Amino acid sequence: MTTPVLQAIDLCRYFRRGKYEVRAVDGVTLAIEAGEFVSLVGASGCGKSTLLALLAGLDTPTSGHIEYLGASLGDMSRRQLAEYRAAQIGVVFQSFNLVPHRTALQNVELALYFSGFQRTERKRRAAHTLERLGMGDRLDHRPADLSGGEQQRVAIGRALVKEPQIVFADEPTGNLDQDHTMQIAELLKELNATGKTIVMVTHNLDLAQDCSSRLIRLDYGRISEASRT
Ligand SMILES: Nc1ncnc2c1ncn2[C@@H]1O[C@H](COP(=O)(O)OP(=O)(O)OP(=O)(O)O)[C@@H](O)[C@H]1O
Ligand SMILES: [Mg+2]
Repeated sequence: MTTPVLQAIDLCRYFRRGKYEVRAVDGVTLAIEAGEFVSLVGASGCGKSTLLALLAGLDTPTSGHIEYLGASLGDMSRRQLAEYRAAQIGVVFQSFNLVPHRTALQNVELALYFSGFQRTERKRRAAHTLERLGMGDRLDHRPADLSGGEQQRVAIGRALVKEPQIVFADEPTGNLDQDHTMQIAELLKELNATGKTIVMVTHNLDLAQDCSSRLIRLDYGRISEASRT
């Protein structure tokens, strides 16, 4: 058997709020093979974004661990972890996290800052990615001057421009109409067809069925169902 690209072993992430403890992720064990397209579904507050942040190395588990190609994220130095985030993964955040005073083009180009590409090449790649997302005529707009769906597409562009091995997308079509949802679905499927691994959080079951090869349902921080689509 090949080593999974990502593996979570008995992963827990608890948040303490005064005397209460929220068990956002509560004992998740899963393995994701290279080239898989996994959809994470479940009720609001069941821990999807928390799990995604852990897998992306953006948050540290309370207990349990995560392996990327057999190497434990917890054992990586700060620098190795930064490299993992910079080179291997792209994240589309539920709340976009765009830099407000930068244009759409600059927001996407920023993702290539540590890539080693010259500025002109960075700009060319960023513009090309945004054009593919139907944003070619919005390159010079700042986030405040874009609609929610357009901001979402910039956030997607920022994750894809590095051509990372794994794309984590948290509700990538949450603010999009049907047409744009289909466009993003096609783009993610295309990306997956080129061998990229995709982990997508969505409330849209049709989208999950259409795009992904596996559906994982979370319930109060635990996997309640895992099925092939
Ligand atoms: N930083 C935090 N501090 C305290 N509690 C948190 C924190 N982050 C998340 N939580 C709690 O953990 C639980 C899981 O949150 P999470 O954001 O992972 O849910 P979700 O499944 O992504 O929900 P949604 O579909 O609404 O985005 C929630 O009950 C939330 O209130
Ligand atoms: Mg969420």
